Amino acid sequence: MRRVTSPGEARAARRSLGGTVGFVPTMGALHAGHLSLVRRAREENAHVVASIFVNPAQFGPKEDLSAYPRPLERDLELLEKEGVALVLVPEPAAMYAPGFETWVEPGSLAARLEGERRPGHFRGVLTVVAKLLNAVEPDRAYFGQKDAQQAVLIRRMARDLDFASEVVVCPIVRESDGLAMSSRNVYLSAEERKAAPVLARALAAASLAWDAGERRGDALKRVVLTVLASEPLARPDYVSAADADTLEETMGEAPRLLLSTAVRFGATRLLDNVVLPHGTGL
Ligand code: PAJ
Repeated sequence: MRRVTSPGEARAARRSLGGTVGFVPTMGALHAGHLSLVRRAREENAHVVASIFVNPAQFGPKEDLSAYPRPLERDLELLEKEGVALVLVPEPAAMYAPGFETWVEPGSLAARLEGERRPGHFRGVLTVVAKLLNAVEPDRAYFGQKDAQQAVLIRRMARDLDFASEVVVCPIVRESDGLAMSSRNVYLSAEERKAAPVLARALAAASLAWDAGERRGDALKRVVLTVLASEPLARPDYVSAADADTLEETMGEAPRLLLSTAVRFGATRLLDNVVLPHGTGL
């Protein structure tokens, strides 16, 4: 596995790879969710390129940029074992040179949900993903449904700005008790960790209601909120039932519904979602 530290080096190294390239951008602290993207990329392409970069531009002033876990050597070993050909691990200065001032500004899709609560977050995400896609020029780029709004925004950016790469969105990988894997799960205390699967249980209860014929967004949200309320450590930030394409909140029926929630456990904020009907994905 070749390791490079700047977009320019990544571009040169990528161009020396023959055949198709699948790209998996990450912020490191890799878990089975990240590795599922790498495996999918390997199945569908001749080579896999990954990146590890904790992108300062997508963290708010009160967020966990400095605390974000950075187990770099372990991450590199995992990527190597998965057969990754090339990994880009830049320092912030290699991505944001002095005088950097050009940004990718998302539109209305970023106005709600995570975007509403984390001003500037998706501007930071889209800008870094655009830079990475420009450097790596992959045939396909892989993202997780875990960060559903991010995936929808990246797909829209690729369409709006004519990126050549296909955006592939992969299913959420979960712990055995249902908790969606996340690099931030390590922040949970033992008690909070025990309580955290309530997100998955709440969404599963709403999925059952859907299977039983419930299609109204507000009714499905109530099911989620009721289950979340059964867990004293869980402090819901939002529960949303939105059209999976427009991300607009829907009170009535939607052909494809993105049911998503953000819940605080102490200082940690966890996300989870499901797209209905089952098996549709984003
Ligand atoms: P990060 O949180 O490291 O996630 C990298 C990719 O892994 C994202 O596409 C995310 O949705 C996916 N992922 C995370 N947990 C997952 C899980 N449990 N199952 C499946 N996929 C999962 O998302 C980012 O980094 C950054 O915003 C990035 C896109 C790299 C831009 O900085």
